[in-house]
Amino acid sequence: MTVSMRALSLPRGYSTFVSLDATIMSESPASKRRRCSSNNFAQSLASLLSGPSVHYPHAVNTQSPQLKSTHQPEVLKSAQASHHASSGGTLTQNESPAGAFSNSTVVITGGSRGIGFSIAQAFRQLGSRVILVGRNTATLETARQKLIDITVPESTVPIHVPVIAGWSAGLDASGVAVMEGDVSNVGQVERICKQIMQQYGPVENLVNCAGISKDSILLTMDPIEAQEVIATNLFGTINMSRGIAKGMLRRRKGCIINVSSVLGIKGMEGTSVYSASKAGVIGFTRSLARELGPRGIRVSAIAPGFIETDMTSSLTEAQRAQYLAQTPMGRFGGPEEVAHAAIFLAQAKYMTGQTLILDGGFSI
Ligand SMILES: NC(=O)c1ccc[n+]([C@@H]2O[C@H](COP(=O)([O-])OP(=O)(O)OC[C@H]3O[C@@H](n4cnc5c(N)ncnc54)[C@H](OP(=O)(O)O)[C@@H]3O)[C@@H](O)[C@H]2O)c1
Repeated sequence: MTVSMRALSLPRGYSTFVSLDATIMSESPASKRRRCSSNNFAQSLASLLSGPSVHYPHAVNTQSPQLKSTHQPEVLKSAQASHHASSGGTLTQNESPAGAFSNSTVVITGGSRGIGFSIAQAFRQLGSRVILVGRNTATLETARQKLIDITVPESTVPIHVPVIAGWSAGLDASGVAVMEGDVSNVGQVERICKQIMQQYGPVENLVNCAGISKDSILLTMDPIEAQEVIATNLFGTINMSRGIAKGMLRRRKGCIINVSSVLGIKGMEGTSVYSASKAGVIGFTRSLARELGPRGIRVSAIAPGFIETDMTSSLTEAQRAQYLAQTPMGRFGGPEEVAHAAIFLAQAKYMTGQTLILDGGFSI
């Protein structure tokens, strides 16, 4: 096995961003025997792997004009600049951050707002096609327009040509699509995943970011709301992973990133149900990483602390002060900082089953 690593300096104190590429060049007979011996698991997956082949629309390069950037995340502009500088300006386009995800597709649940939208911006900036999943059409459309405005190098934006009669607009030259649906609803998730496979082709990365919080002390919490929290945060993650992993399994390639929370690790009064949902996501991540690792699919989690989004906008000043007092870095995080972690995990090819904590030190 040969492993190549490159370090990429990031701005604003995010010192080192390591991209790890591990390539198996040769395999010993003993290693091959070990790999082939996991037959029980292999048999249980046999039907999935030998299922009917999926016909994807062709991908071709587009001659579309380069789009004007009005929403290019500052942090990514800086990352490109510093990466270029640190490499002595000798990188080819394919090695550059801008092309890191060219010719790949990411599905991001909860991508219409907050952390999910920042993750979508980051993947888009690096050349990925992006499919957003959310419940609200208007919010999704707003997000789609902003993503289309991001400059992506022309050569990294292949389009999918419709090959199915009656095929909808889909991933056109813009490279961005949105799908309305509730991740907690099994039927809707099955429809979404089927549609993605049939219309938009293979998915390389899935980010499960859709989530809700309904904070209350347990004894006064509405039991219906408690079920909604678990259904969205935990079952939403499970449902989407099941749906998208099927396609990844057939190609023996993919990466799933689950957005958990530091509250899935550290307890806090008034958040027991939310914490349970997020701790569940971490357990799910670990075990799924073991199931899918032998099939070339990595599964990781991010556990953010308090991040400035709609979700935390309703906190009172007193609550903010209380949380900040427990946070050594003395501030809430920005959604783009969580996006850094998502990009790192998508690129860290020898990392799986881990949970990356980004909380300004809240949990230490
Ligand atoms: N903000 C924080 O401090 C913080 C900290 C740790 C972890 N997190 C986690 O990070 C993730 C994103 O949080 P955020 O702060 O960005 O929240 P946010 O701004 O409220 O955004 C939540 C996103 O999830 C979508 N969503 C919610 N329920 C959904 C459902 N049932 N089906 C499909 N989409 C759904 C929302 O879209 P629609 O409402 O339009 O459907 C929206 O796009 C969540 O999982 C959250 O638990 C947040």
